[in-house]
Amino acid sequence: MIRTIYRVSDLILNNFIPIITIDGPTASGKGTIAKHLAKVLGFHYLDSGAIYRLTALASVRHGIDPENFSALAALAKKLDIHFENERILLSSEDVTDIIRVEALGNRASAIAIHPTLRAALSDLQRTFKIPPGLVADGRDMGTIVFPEADLKVFLTATPRTRAQRRYKQLIERGFSTTIRNVLIDLGVRDDRDRNRSEAPLRPAEGARVLDTSEFTIEQTVTQVLGWFSQVR
Ligand code: DC
Repeated sequence: MIRTIYRVSDLILNNFIPIITIDGPTASGKGTIAKHLAKVLGFHYLDSGAIYRLTALASVRHGIDPENFSALAALAKKLDIHFENERILLSSEDVTDIIRVEALGNRASAIAIHPTLRAALSDLQRTFKIPPGLVADGRDMGTIVFPEADLKVFLTATPRTRAQRRYKQLIERGFSTTIRNVLIDLGVRDDRDRNRSEAPLRPAEGARVLDTSEFTIEQTVTQVLGWFSQVR
């Protein structure tokens, strides 16, 4: 009986936790914007792409073939991951920087096509919905993982702008690459993320779509906060 009361109160409380979802293609600026928003609002931040990247890294470490979907789904269910301040830990190892390499982004995108794996990772992502609120970024945050979100945003930018942003990030992190290579990688990843049958990348119903090519980070954050104030 007491358990039932707890469950009911959890459900009611759950409905009052505000959520902003920020979806968009690779290097559309969603991570940067989501982090800023979470900071300004004092909300938690979920980088769902990092969870796909962690799964990709764990699969490499365990020697699991990217086509072996049942092994990948089993792996996803027992991932030992922690987000601590700005650091990301996999089985207590700090992998914050390693998971950013393009090869792991590509592997993450390749394994992300599988429904059972996505279901396991979506369950994990939903555990991040805790008070006082959540800003979640990814590809299917508004469409699949948090369809109940108060505000859904879909960020875009021209391929050239996105390639330049990603190139700058990679160089700052000490990786060596060229804009041309980044542009090719983005194209391959965008195609796969948009055209997969499970949770394809697309704006959620009712999402506000914003092309940030000519926007600064501050302008974009201000725009999203303005939308959020209209729905809360
Ligand atoms: O956002 P990112 O570049 O870190 O994501 C890496 C890959 O993970 C992306 O190309 C596709 C996959 N992904 C996904 O399928 N769904 C999400 N919600 C987030 C990422």
